[in-house]
Parts: sequence; C-alpha cells; structure tokens
Amino acid sequence: MTVKQGFVVISITATLLILGIGQFWSPIYWLFLLVAPLILLGIYDILQKRHTILRLYPVIGHGRYLFESVRPEIQQYFVESDIDGRPINREFRALVYQRAKGSNDTRPFGTQFDVYRSGYEWVNHSLSPKAVTERDPRIHFGGSDCLKPYDASPLNISAMSFGALSKNAISALNIAAKTGGFSHNTGEGGISPYHLAGGDLVWQIGTGYFGCRGPQGDFDADKFSKQASNDVVKMIEIKLSQGAKPGHGGILPAAKVTQEIADIRHVPLGHDVISPPAHSAFDSPKGLLDFVVTLRDLSGGKPVGFKLCIGDKTEFLSIVKAMLETGITPDFITIDGGEGGTGAAPIELTNSVGMPLRDALIFVNNSLIGSGLRGRMKLIASGKALSAFHMLRLMALGADAVNSARAMMLALGCIQSRSCNTGHCPTGITTQNPARFKALDIDHKAERVANYHSAMIEHLVELIAVAGLERLDQLKPEDINRRVSGTDVRNYRELYPCITQDCLLDNATCPDSWKERWSLASAEAW
Ligand SMILES: Cc1cc2nc3c(=O)[nH]c(=O)nc-3n(C[C@H](O)[C@H](O)[C@H](O)COP(=O)(O)O)c2cc1C
Repeated sequence: MTVKQGFVVISITATLLILGIGQFWSPIYWLFLLVAPLILLGIYDILQKRHTILRLYPVIGHGRYLFESVRPEIQQYFVESDIDGRPINREFRALVYQRAKGSNDTRPFGTQFDVYRSGYEWVNHSLSPKAVTERDPRIHFGGSDCLKPYDASPLNISAMSFGALSKNAISALNIAAKTGGFSHNTGEGGISPYHLAGGDLVWQIGTGYFGCRGPQGDFDADKFSKQASNDVVKMIEIKLSQGAKPGHGGILPAAKVTQEIADIRHVPLGHDVISPPAHSAFDSPKGLLDFVVTLRDLSGGKPVGFKLCIGDKTEFLSIVKAMLETGITPDFITIDGGEGGTGAAPIELTNSVGMPLRDALIFVNNSLIGSGLRGRMKLIASGKALSAFHMLRLMALGADAVNSARAMMLALGCIQSRSCNTGHCPTGITTQNPARFKALDIDHKAERVANYHSAMIEHLVELIAVAGLERLDQLKPEDINRRVSGTDVRNYRELYPCITQDCLLDNATCPDSWKERWSLASAEAW
C-alpha cells in the first residue's frame, strides 16, 4: 500500500470510528477538531500539483519542509563543531562576541586546532619580545598629490551600504567609528543621514554612482564635489569589484528598497536596485587613473583609491602599466578576497569566481614592488579578518591596513543566520523592516563594535611585540609559517615567492613567470 492509499484508509477509518463511538459517548466528536484539518490538508496535498512529494506523501510530507526550515539552526546550535562552521566558525564568532562584550576572551586547556593538519598557520615569536610602545598605531594615507591626507587605524569598517544594512546598524557602526577612532566605509549605496553621527567616512563610489548620480545613472561631478567636501569624508574609494560577486555589480532586492533608500540613491521604488557590472565614467586602465585624479581634485585633495577582487592578473598589470605611463597613482588599493561577504549574490559568483585574498594580496604587492610603485600607495586587505592573527598574516603579505565587514556585523550582534538577502534578519542588522531594526539598540551596539575594534588593536600590537618587532611595517612574509604536510612546514616567503624591487621595468630582470602577462598588459585597454 502506498502512503497515499494509507492516508485514504486511515482517514475513512478514523472518521467512521469517531462517528461510531460518538453514538455512545459524544465528547469524542471534539477529536474532529484535530482530525478534520489533517484530512483536509491531506486532500489538498493530493489535489495540488506543485509538490510531488506532498501528492505522494500527504500530510507527513510536510515534515520534510519543516525539518528543512530548521536545519540551519539545528546545524549551528547542535551539530557544527567550534572550528568547522562556515563561513565563519564558532571559535571566531565567539571571539568577536566576547571582545565586543568586553567579557573574558581567553581560552582554557590549549588550542582546539590540530597543529599537525595541513594548512595550520602560526607566527614566529622572538626570544626577546619587545615591550609594546605604540598602542594606537596609525597608517598614513595620501601621496604627494594629496592635500588632505588621512591617518587611519589599521582596522576599519569595510563597505556595507545603508540598504544592505538597516539605519540602526549604520548609525551604530558610525558612532563606534567616532568613539573608537577608526573609519567607516559607506558601501556603494552612498552617504545616508545615518552615516553622519561623526565617524570618519570612506565614501565608496560604485557603478551606480549613488549619491553622485546623474539622471541617466552616470557620474555627476557637481553632486560628487558637494558631498565629498563634507569634512567627515576622509577618503574616496572607487569600487571596481568585490570578492563575493566580482563583475556582477550590486543587487539590493526590491524587498529592502524603502522610500528613504530610493530617495538617497535616486532610484525607483519597488524594483531590485542593480548597480551595473562596469563603470560608465571610464573604460580603460588609463581612464580609471584619470578618474582617480578627477575625484581627488573634486574632493579638494582627499586620498582616492580603488577596491577590486583580482581575476585575470593581466588586467591588474594593465593598471600598473597605466600608472607607469601616466605617472598617476591611487593613494590606496583595497583588495577583496573571493571569500568576502555580501548582502546578496548569485551562488556561482560567490562560490566560484574571484581570487582568494592571500593569493591576490601577494600578487598585487609583488606587482607594485616589481614596478617600483609600492611606496606610492597603501594596500588595504579585506576577507575574513576576525582575529589579530588574521590581520597580522595579511600584513605579513603586504597589507598596510585591514577592512572588516562581517566581524563588525558579529560585533553588532549578527548570529550568522544568513538571511541578509530576505529582509528577515533576526538581529535587525540587514533588514529594512522597522519591527526588526528598531530592536537594535544603537548606543549599546556602537559600544560593542568600538570594544571589538579596540581589543583587536590591543592584541595586534601585542602580537607584534611577541614577534620581537616594534612596528607593523616590520612584518615580513617569513614571519608566518604554514604546515603543508604532516612533516613539512613552509614560511610565507617560500610559499609566495617575492619578486625584487623594479624587476618588471627591465626585460632582462623580469622573472620568467611574469614575462608573458607583463608583455600582454596594456595601459590602454583591459
Ligand atoms: C551585508 C554586506 C554588504 C556589503 N556591501 C558592500 C558594498 O556595498 N560594497 C563593497 O565593496 N563591498 C560590500 N561588501 C563586502 C565587504 O565590504 C567586504 O569586502 C567583504 O565582506 C570581505 O570582508 P569580511 O570577510 O570582513 O566580511 C558587503 C558585505 C556584506 C556582508
């Protein structure tokens, strides 16, 4: 007998039994309150045509959907171990929560990591550790063409727009940036009133030019200049791509587009807001650098850089060649890894497009060293930097500063429910539903984000001292080790070979493995 036939037999039998017993004992009829809805549900399941599973397994087939809906929670609360959760494991989620709350963040009884598994990494300590002298290190942004350089914290809030995040979340982040002395990247959604609580801003300009957008969706110099002259805007970042969805532009689902967001961005209500994949203000490496100069001039001389996830290496080398040919350099480059986060992205792009951060960072750093340009700009890295060691290893590969998005969200109270794309965020962070975001207490969460930031800096400078160094810029690739097999360990310099200063400038010194790409790269076209 099939389940469907079983349902029919059980339904008829149950009905007859209740009717029969009811002849002698009428309270049994109350059972119909339970049985009738189940029978009606089963009949509906059999008649409907969308779900084969329900037609074949009336009533009990709903169990599957029920279990599927609670699977992520069961997985997170009961199944995953402290170190295997994804994208961010429990060990590091807990670390962020503890540092944000200012509670005990030490660990008892030794590491949970298997130090003999391939991939395990550690930093060399020194037998003569230094005393920490610089507790609030600053990174200087702004080359010789900059009239308004900016001294940034080594750790800052990565780009996340108002729209992807709620107004309360943005306000809390901005207040945290103000109290903690670090910067807050606006994301490509433009500067909203909630970004103006006094924290330093990095204004991100994406392909949608939100906040400096003309009627056709093109770049509007006057609007840009007006907003960029605001004192709280310390730097400008041109977004070329982001690691979670390179080449895709941005998507803000219609469900999250409120009237207010539509007004700030100058877009229609009720539609997904799509940022095009490419910029309309330029279409070549030289064009990008001209745009850097335009924005620097229009902003009154503030540092201007660009953010990208590396794809085809030749394309990045084309930008390097354009820098050499024009003499124009950005003040910074932000490198986002393929492991980066997003509010919403197609799964193929998230899972299978974009170079992972460490590979990209060493490549960019090498390209700039080899072309003699490294000293003219700063490198910012973003991609799962949750602990001070994560920052340190990026700095050993060439990053001057680190941006963090998801750790800042965790500090705000995010529980990694991964519902940023639905508007149903249970913590009020990635939603525009007032019932949800109003539950996020701005001052309390701002304090948590500032606590997390200051604990990270405290542990970063301590790690530097433990490594026997005095400054962040003394870190070298050989300071970090990785186990590559049960018996073999390599340091980062061995794993990621560094090229020599200026070697790309002369064919005789250009490393063989770089020659083909370097010769294909063109300042005129990607
Ligand atoms: C909710 C959310 C929204 C984001 N919005 C933007 C954006 O507007 N522009 C951008 O360049 N990157 C955006 N990102 C990417 C982050 O800025 C960052 O580059 C990436 O998540 C890697 O950092 P993380 O690993 O610290 O999260 C977003 C990420 C998240 C999680």
